[in-house]
Amino acid sequence: MSTPTSMSRTLVLEEFGTLPRLAERTVPEPRPGHTLVRMAAATVAHLDLNVLDGEFGILPELPFVPGTQGSGHVLASDTHPEGALVRVRGEGLGLSRDGAWAEHLLLPDAAAETMPAGTDPALACTYFSPVGTAWATVHAIARVQPGERVLVTGASGAVGAMAVQLAARVGAEVVGAVGRPAKLAHVPATAKALLASELSEQAIGGKVDVLIDTVGGSILRNALTLVRQRGRAALLGYTAGRELTLDLADFFLADVSLLPVNMISRAQEVAPEVLRLLPDLSSGALSLPYERYGMDALGEAVERLRTGEAVGKIVLDLT
Ligand SMILES: NC(=O)c1ccc[n+]([C@@H]2O[C@H](COP(=O)([O-])OP(=O)(O)OC[C@H]3O[C@@H](n4cnc5c(N)ncnc54)[C@H](OP(=O)(O)O)[C@@H]3O)[C@@H](O)[C@H]2O)c1
Repeated sequence: MSTPTSMSRTLVLEEFGTLPRLAERTVPEPRPGHTLVRMAAATVAHLDLNVLDGEFGILPELPFVPGTQGSGHVLASDTHPEGALVRVRGEGLGLSRDGAWAEHLLLPDAAAETMPAGTDPALACTYFSPVGTAWATVHAIARVQPGERVLVTGASGAVGAMAVQLAARVGAEVVGAVGRPAKLAHVPATAKALLASELSEQAIGGKVDVLIDTVGGSILRNALTLVRQRGRAALLGYTAGRELTLDLADFFLADVSLLPVNMISRAQEVAPEVLRLLPDLSSGALSLPYERYGMDALGEAVERLRTGEAVGKIVLDLT
């Protein structure tokens, strides 16, 4: 194993409730059972914000390097080929051990997964969850059929935009709803884009067969009334509110199946399907929205995520 000698720019959290500070640290020493990665990209996700805020179940010891997912190229490893692009996640990364918001990362071999050569590092660290969730929702859970009409809420978000594209690929007619006017332009062109506040049977041309809801709250309550009898509603997010109350008489009358999406239980079964979609994601045949920020612009990235203004995933550029 060769030992790089340079310093590594690293985002270090010193106090919960604050932003990590950009610092120079020495590159970690390679050691057996571990892979040293020159990071290229990392995600900034809601889970990371929970860690920054000190609200995650297990609090890491400070100072701490956040970042639960990332990607980069192998510098030294007994397991992964030198130079290979790897996706890094799991094994407590960014939760109980230093994470991906750094130029260099030494991690247990099991936390690195080799990605096909030539994959964009930003795609490598963002694709799995939104694409896997959208695939499971459209194919395994809602079982969208050709010719069906599908309504997707949060249709400019990472999962929503992917669900729109996958449902359209099946041959469904898709309506995509967003919360803010600025997001209308970011709904994939395969859907008719509308504001959630304007959703009505008339606006969408009659009831839909399937609802895919990524936001919850009052948007879900309204959207559910737009599903036909014996239609399906797949529910996967609750950013806009986590409670849904049911009047049982109305529920029976509506006759709409409520289908929970649980990616923790489905991650393994969707993994091969998601990998099969990677060439389409790389070529742009399927597009996964994300915003890219430098390490010195973390504050802006966090703010965009907290306010919901971000379009798709947020990626830190660590190159
Ligand atoms: N059930 C599961 O297994 C599973 C798996 C993966 C993801 N999820 C959940 O699915 C949801 C969508 O994921 P995603 O990656 O697509 O998320 P995303 O891109 O961050 O957001 C989806 C949409 O939610 C709205 N939003 C975001 N933050 C908001 C805020 N602070 N206030 C109000 N609205 C906000 C925005 O839509 P508008 O601007 O149009 O309102 C945004 O486009 C998330 O809640 C995520 O936790 C669930």
